Amino acid sequence: MNFATALQGLQDLEPTVEEFRDAVFRGLGNMPKTLPCKFFYDAQGSRLFDRICELPEYYPTRTECALLAARAEDIAACVGPQVELIEFGSGAGVKIRLLLAALIDPAAYVPVDISRDHLMLAAGTLARDFPDLRVAPVCADYSNPFALPHLPGLFPERRVGFFPGSTIGNFTPEEATDFLRGAARLLGPGSMMIVGVDLPKDPAILHAAYDDPAGVTAAFNLNLLRRINRELDADFDIGAFAHEARWNRPASRVEMHLISRTAQTVRVGGRRFDFRTGESIHTENSYKFGIDAFARLARAAGYAKVATWTDPAALFSVHVLEAVGPS
Ligand code: TRP
Repeated sequence: MNFATALQGLQDLEPTVEEFRDAVFRGLGNMPKTLPCKFFYDAQGSRLFDRICELPEYYPTRTECALLAARAEDIAACVGPQVELIEFGSGAGVKIRLLLAALIDPAAYVPVDISRDHLMLAAGTLARDFPDLRVAPVCADYSNPFALPHLPGLFPERRVGFFPGSTIGNFTPEEATDFLRGAARLLGPGSMMIVGVDLPKDPAILHAAYDDPAGVTAAFNLNLLRRINRELDADFDIGAFAHEARWNRPASRVEMHLISRTAQTVRVGGRRFDFRTGESIHTENSYKFGIDAFARLARAAGYAKVATWTDPAALFSVHVLEAVGPS
């Protein structure tokens, strides 16, 4: 198969500017104020996130990649040959290569991402590098239901979802359970999920990972306000907000906030939003699940555990789950 036929056309369900505006109005109207983290990833945000992944303080990417590389053969043995791989939030498309190196004769790869240009770039390079693999990109917000692309003549042995990066921790536990249930519906009975999950650890390590001294994470968080200015006719003064990462121990999550340095009024698409000094916009959670806590969540979502691995320092975990329906 050559590159031209291996890369299938994009299925485009990118959120519209109206959806973005509605979500921003809703979030800034909340008490306390919030903004949905999925909107971090415009072109600029996706580039900044790729830089976060390379920071010395941001251990999850490095650790998960090493774990996937070390366990690729084991993962391949769990899922079997000729699978259709569906990746939720495929980003730069780095991690899937570690699996593709070990999987036996994979049938197709469906990268799903909300960031369209980033997705097309990554899908194109991957299709070139794996000429025998059918690559069918989908631009979508995977927290809402979407359909898999139709791939004529494809009869995979199994569908396998791939959800690395501890992105599952960016949902609340209830949303994470719903997401896993939805994935089982989308991928069908007997499908598997490979999920990367960050583990609870020393708060100092967590804090450095989400508030690096080079300020890349701060720039990433603040880019959400820049994006609102760019796309929604808003006048956020970026210098008047500060990035803050907080470890919420009872909830076992790192919280990302944007703190108003002064009392100010911001205009967004014809509406006004008032901020008190020190008032926060809560932009993201990153929940950390111990092995057992995540196993319970997966079971509640209708999965049986196939395998779990951690790195030697027990920073990060990779779970392989099989969809078995309600227990
Ligand atoms: N899934 C990543 C995580 O929870 C996302 C992330 C990393 C992130 N660093 C961030 C999100 C900084 C917002 C800000 O680790």
